[in-house]
Amino acid sequence: MAKIKRIGVLTSGGDAPGMNAAVRAVARTALANGIECIGIRRGWQGLINCDFIQLTRANVGHLLSKGGTILYTARSEEFMNPEGRQKAVNTCKMLGLEGIVAIGGDGTFRGALELSRLGIPVVGVPATIDNDVGCTNYTIGFDSACNTAIECIDKLRDTMQSHERCSVVEVMGRNAGFLALYVGTAVGATAVLVPEHVESFEQNVIERIRGAKLAGYTHFMVVVAEGAGHAQEVGDKIQEALGIKPTITVIGHIQRGGAPTGRDRETATRMGYHAVMAFAEGRGNCVIGTQEGGIVEIPIEEALTMKKHLQMDRYKIMEIMQFGGGHDGEI
Ligand code: F6P
Repeated sequence: MAKIKRIGVLTSGGDAPGMNAAVRAVARTALANGIECIGIRRGWQGLINCDFIQLTRANVGHLLSKGGTILYTARSEEFMNPEGRQKAVNTCKMLGLEGIVAIGGDGTFRGALELSRLGIPVVGVPATIDNDVGCTNYTIGFDSACNTAIECIDKLRDTMQSHERCSVVEVMGRNAGFLALYVGTAVGATAVLVPEHVESFEQNVIERIRGAKLAGYTHFMVVVAEGAGHAQEVGDKIQEALGIKPTITVIGHIQRGGAPTGRDRETATRMGYHAVMAFAEGRGNCVIGTQEGGIVEIPIEEALTMKKHLQMDRYKIMEIMQFGGGHDGEI
């Protein structure tokens, strides 16, 4: 197989801390292997519009600690239709791109699959604060987003404690509870509401606040995953059931910003390296993942069918940490 000469890299979907570190790793690994690297700006839309910059060793410098993405990101409507995708293929041909590294989440990989079916090899690198990509146990940005949310909630706790109040905090995560459970465990939440376990609001929230009260707590922290409901609605239900008016905080997009943590920088660097090495060694059309700490390559089509479930054993641990965690009168 002829040696690959030129690849493109893009970031797509919601940004995540560590995307820049992945771009840097892709560019530097490519250059170290004698491959030219083009940065496509604004995700799939940039490929349609031929919106790009040449990446060099120097212009990907000082990126490790930088949040956001220097390539910008977008969710492209036009790429959803065949005409748009054909324009993207034309750009690849015009620029001589023999492969694309697509950094993002499942939506990005669905786009990658479509492009690969049109003959452009793609390698996906998972980056989303939601950690909701089935083929990998970790996605770039998750650790940074968790730490940002934890820092916010720690601050909130100080004032809740002083005023002996109840607080409902909504965190991101789209349809998954990974972020909420991790954060809830790390801040010692009274209750955590996740989309994977919404069966009994009474049991998961109301009884837990009652239990905490009985155990002598005077302030309560309820963490809600956005996929499990709105903080305001949860607050209203708490008020109705217990007669206390919680403060409402939606942390929102702050979770997507800021300097990536060491874990995100290191993982992004390894994933970016392996994405380019897949191309350099004649492979493609796969998603890079981490499983049991090691790097794996999963065919895109298979990657998109893989499911990852919230670890309910961890949910149980979170519950037990507060006051025994029982729903059975053992509080
Ligand atoms: O996928 C990342 C994410 O931040 C989700 O947690 C959230 O649901 C979504 O993106 C928000 O997207 P937008 O910024 O486009 O509203």
